[in-house]
Amino acid sequence: ATSNWSGVTHGLAGHTDYMSKEIAEQPETAARIIDRLAPMIADGSLWSGLNLPPFERVAVLGCGTSLNAGRVIANAFGALGDVPNSSLIASEASSAIMDPRTLVIALSQSGETADVLRAIDDLDLGTSSLMALTNSEHSTLARRADSMLNCNAGPEIGVAATKTFVAQVITGVAMALSALAATRRIDRDYARRQTDDLRRIPDLLAHAIAASQKAIPPLIEEIRDAQGFLFLGRGAGVVYAAEGALKLKELSYRWAEHYPAGELKHGPLALVEAGTPVVVIDSGDRRIESNISEVEARGGRIIRIGGAGSTIPALGLSLGTAMPGGIDRWGPLESVVPLQILARDLALALGRDVDKPRNLAKSVTVE
Ligand code: G6P
Repeated sequence: ATSNWSGVTHGLAGHTDYMSKEIAEQPETAARIIDRLAPMIADGSLWSGLNLPPFERVAVLGCGTSLNAGRVIANAFGALGDVPNSSLIASEASSAIMDPRTLVIALSQSGETADVLRAIDDLDLGTSSLMALTNSEHSTLARRADSMLNCNAGPEIGVAATKTFVAQVITGVAMALSALAATRRIDRDYARRQTDDLRRIPDLLAHAIAASQKAIPPLIEEIRDAQGFLFLGRGAGVVYAAEGALKLKELSYRWAEHYPAGELKHGPLALVEAGTPVVVIDSGDRRIESNISEVEARGGRIIRIGGAGSTIPALGLSLGTAMPGGIDRWGPLESVVPLQILARDLALALGRDVDKPRNLAKSVTVE
């Protein structure tokens, strides 16, 4: 795949920071990627073009936001095609033993992250194969992998990844669908219907931006002085809770942890006191209501990201009947938008440099 991003303006294009610009670009970035990949999904050609051997299981590998994107893709292989899957933290993966016929997907927007390069050097691949999913087609990772898929997000200047996450998820899910169709784990009609749902993502993202820009600024004063945040989700929403907590830490320098919501009562509930902000991704699992009640009973401040009536009604378009296949396949991707905007707005209120957070670098070339 070659880089063919277009319509990306250079400079700030009227935004006050690159993070703002890159958040705003997400619907257009998503549309461009989906338009290019959609014709190659149901016929399996996106997968066959990668020239990789057959696989029986999938393992994703990466760091930070790229690892979160990988987890979404691994979950999609499981939910869509019953493919056994796992995720590996790159800095911990060097001693991992690969099962035979594993498709290893290494994700890195820069393709230069030392932890990732070290991990792939140390993997004993045997009958397994290595695919790179990167935003940099000439990177070291792209060169070392058996095959490379460019997520084509266009340049991302902000240190905290935003649109590259969305681009990695869409590209990886499209590839997963294509691979499942090519290997007859799903039929073509099913793959086509899933592709139609992928085509809705740009609208879901645009709706989430509008809803977030309205709902988040009035919240910031109230949470400005909170020292710690919890992020909760269930099922396919958990990885988005992880990404939300990561963004908040990176940008605002506040403590933030994520949990599968059911785990709350097994420990983290002890952290909740009057005013503790608890961000809940409500992607439709009714069991989340009892988790919300547990927090409210201790005076915690629930910030619900969900459908109509939520604190941030950013998921309105995909809940209910609009997404016939349910939300579990790749989770509520548009929930990343309010999570990004919440982290950015809080960081700005605290006087942080959102494009260059302290102690962090865009590309970490040391282990
Ligand atoms: C650094 C950045 C993170 C990023 C991670 C992985 O730690 O601060 O925001 O997610 O690297 O970067 P990569 O280029 O491998 O996606």
